[in-house]
Amino acid sequence: SKPYVFITRTLPETIVEPFRSSLDIHMWPKTEEPVERSTLLAEANKANAIITMLSDHIDEEVLENAPRLQAIANLAVGYDNIDINLAHEHGITVTNTPDVLTETTADLTFGLLMATARRLLEASDYVREDKWSNWAPLLLAGQDVHHKTIGIVGMGRIGKAVAHRAQGFHMNILYHNRSHDEEAEQQLGATYASFDELLEHSDFVVCLAPLTEQTKHMFHKASFQRMKSSAIFVNASRGANVVEEDLYEALVKGQIAGAGLDVFEEEPIHNDHPLLSLSQVVALPHIGSATIETRQDMMKLCLENIQLVLDNKQPKTKVTI
Ligand code: GLV
Ligand code: GLV
Repeated sequence: SKPYVFITRTLPETIVEPFRSSLDIHMWPKTEEPVERSTLLAEANKANAIITMLSDHIDEEVLENAPRLQAIANLAVGYDNIDINLAHEHGITVTNTPDVLTETTADLTFGLLMATARRLLEASDYVREDKWSNWAPLLLAGQDVHHKTIGIVGMGRIGKAVAHRAQGFHMNILYHNRSHDEEAEQQLGATYASFDELLEHSDFVVCLAPLTEQTKHMFHKASFQRMKSSAIFVNASRGANVVEEDLYEALVKGQIAGAGLDVFEEEPIHNDHPLLSLSQVVALPHIGSATIETRQDMMKLCLENIQLVLDNKQPKTKVTI
């Protein structure tokens, strides 16, 4: 009989259909709501493989009750929602979706930087709210992006793709990473900086580091105090890399000038979130990789990875830690 596969969201049938001949695929019947915990537990208990979303917590409770589980394919490049060590102890292969989303996520990250610097959302609201009665010399004046210094924290694939865009804007590029990166330095002209140096010298501080024990809450009170008062902070990785109350305070006190945020510590946020009360904050609902093409590529990659593991072959993009 065919291996049992559970997908924690409804994916388009056109993507799933080609795999139905070899896999017995079941899906949580909703596209916009996460799987109920009880369903996730019951399905993981019988599944040979699961495809998970970043909103699913694949923890001890799930993994200790999944006797047949061989593969978990996370529909994301980040995998902080999964207890990887425990999965590996259970002999479960975990895969993610790097590469296919790199350029798309870099586009969003740079767009968010531009939108925050040039106050695009405020400006758009201004027109829609019929406030545009006159031209004025400093009306909605923002900050230049070109020829400024960008500091990229987390120089992985996406960080490099953002640096490549920054080159086109003639920016000075600093980066901070666990280790030096030859490619970033030689091909992108990026200069390594300590975390503190990067914070002190950057006009735009862009966080693209994965969420780990080491990066959790790495942006806190003292980090924002080190930044220029004109600096803009952009986060397109994981909200928990930032202490949000400290970011809020830094913005209110004018220690930094603005923030572009695609991610939050507890998602989704609602309109009572303190950061949303600030006009210098641009907030997006975690859409870094959200283009139709890229999301389809990510879904296909998850299905291919699962098929490969169930066929006892190497998956294309296995998480190795
Ligand atoms: C999205 O945040 C991802 O990790 O792919
Ligand atoms: C992170 O994993 C990246 O691809 O930048």
